[in-house]
Amino acid sequence: ETPPEVPQLQLGFNSIPGSKTDAVSVAEGYRAQVLAPWGQPITADGAAWQDDGSNNANDQENAMGMHHDGLHFFPLNEAGTDGVLCVNHEYIDQNALHPMGSDKDENGLRSSLDQVRKEINAHGVAVVRIQLQDSGEWLVIDNDPLNRRYTGATVMDIAGPLANSDMLVTPFSPDGSQARGTLNNCGNGFTPWGTYLTCEENWPGYFINTAETTAEQERIGLDTSGTTRYGWETLAGNADEMDDEFTRFNVTPNADNASQDYRNEANGHGYIVEIDPYTENSRAVKRTALGRFRHEGCTIGKLTQGQPITFYSGHDARFEYMYKFVSAAPWDPADANPSDRMATGDKYMNEGTLYVARFDADGTGVWLPLTLTGATKDGGVLADHFANLAEIILNTAGAADLAGATPMDRPEWCSIDPVTGSVYLTLTNNTRRNEETGTNAANPRLNNKFGHIIRWDESESMTDFSWDIFVFGSDAGGDELTNLSGLTEFNQFASPDGLAFDARGVMWVQTDNGADEVEDYTNDQILAVIPSNLTDEEGNQTTITSANQGELRRFFVGPNGCEVTGLTMTPDYTTMFVSIQHPKNWPYSSNAQEETPAGMALRPRASVVAIRKVDGSPLGV
Ligand code: FEO
Ligand code: CA
Ligand code: CA
Ligand code: CA
Repeated sequence: ETPPEVPQLQLGFNSIPGSKTDAVSVAEGYRAQVLAPWGQPITADGAAWQDDGSNNANDQENAMGMHHDGLHFFPLNEAGTDGVLCVNHEYIDQNALHPMGSDKDENGLRSSLDQVRKEINAHGVAVVRIQLQDSGEWLVIDNDPLNRRYTGATVMDIAGPLANSDMLVTPFSPDGSQARGTLNNCGNGFTPWGTYLTCEENWPGYFINTAETTAEQERIGLDTSGTTRYGWETLAGNADEMDDEFTRFNVTPNADNASQDYRNEANGHGYIVEIDPYTENSRAVKRTALGRFRHEGCTIGKLTQGQPITFYSGHDARFEYMYKFVSAAPWDPADANPSDRMATGDKYMNEGTLYVARFDADGTGVWLPLTLTGATKDGGVLADHFANLAEIILNTAGAADLAGATPMDRPEWCSIDPVTGSVYLTLTNNTRRNEETGTNAANPRLNNKFGHIIRWDESESMTDFSWDIFVFGSDAGGDELTNLSGLTEFNQFASPDGLAFDARGVMWVQTDNGADEVEDYTNDQILAVIPSNLTDEEGNQTTITSANQGELRRFFVGPNGCEVTGLTMTPDYTTMFVSIQHPKNWPYSSNAQEETPAGMALRPRASVVAIRKVDGSPLGV
């Protein structure tokens, strides 16, 4: 497909100063609206949100979840004023969720089934119909037939190499065809056939094995002692009599009690999950062919008719890797409007080749295939270590170790420049990169607390690439070894995380919990730049330097304590939707905070924010 014809697009706003308040701050001429906050009911079965934490698990199952993250707008009309918004709910804050926080008994055990169910239901994905009103405000259409929740308990199908594998067999799914729930949904993606992709990131922390761990569990870092992240498996009472909806999170083998032997439960997690937003009550499908790790996001590369589709996904943990999946089926543009979207997902996402990236010091890189015949760095093949593809997928990171992938500084979101086709990836930070671990050319800074954005161009064959570093995070006052991109007060940033190009070629960068040097100046933010405008005299793409740093501009700043994450737009570019995750007080203003009744916990609410120009014209330019 040819890139959109853009006459040297320019950013149409001036960089705003940093901000450290309990409100959002946005470029002059823009306004921001709170939309679909945690707890807002979306079906008739959910009661109105109560600010004392008294909503029950059933309310939560029928309302927006907590800690919004990746999101995508799927239009329902040509004008883009009516659509379905899919929103990830990454994790929870027990203190805000319940009247009494996590409410444990004297033995440190959870005592309320309903509270645990509420926590599970606050995770996952919300699908909600929204419409633009004449006032310029967006409205959630309560109880629309398309509205629904996918939670940490929703039954989902398994597709791809691990479907029906022995390694997926549980008492709940004796044929290994299903798993319950999606957890820690961080970044997202979307497909050209109109489906939403939600990515399971820090799922290992929800499971525990107190017996001997498998090599795969060891590699991914499953808990082996104490309790899981929220202690869902630690309900008071006799575990053998307890319902498996909670005990399944303890994956310690239980050979004496087959009905409670959930040793394979975690194997149903760690995937890219596909959802059809346009079809009521449709079943979500876990696409195992795309690998099993802490998926940050899932981004589809530039589409070419008759060529395979590429899906990029980073493993967000220190020293982990960057992956891509290449479909076996070539892209057929007729599939952009299919009668059965999930069948189209089957076509492109169940068969193909998973690769992991090696970035070499000379500015080139290689995609290493994670297949039985894929080479290992010691001169063998992966078949020397794995019996079949399903085993490779289950322990994707272990296979990537053997192949010789490059350990990165926490790969987060990835996005494709629609003008040049270059792939951009945020590497958020890695303060554990030290003399002992060493650096590599693609991750060149020790104690990388500011992070950087790397980019690459695929070769014709798509098996190798050339790369460079687009921008280094830094505070404005950083020395020449730190402020390598010449940033100033107006664009200093740390910990790039969310990353999204819009279809015009504007790249939007979001930050998550920066280094103190930047945090002392500003809360998390959104910056914008048009990378295809940055060329040298010979017309080659160039990076951010002190000479052109003014092209990187601060557009938005979030409220105190938050992370700004997830970005999607209406097709006419007049509304941008982003998520505000884990705000400290917001959307209570500091005044409202004073009005909070004495003794009542303050309940901040993660939320979507809809950003529009006051005059309703396309934003950003
Ligand atoms: Fe959930 Fe990698 O941020
Ligand atoms: Ca993230
Ligand atoms: Ca992050
Ligand atoms: Ca987060």
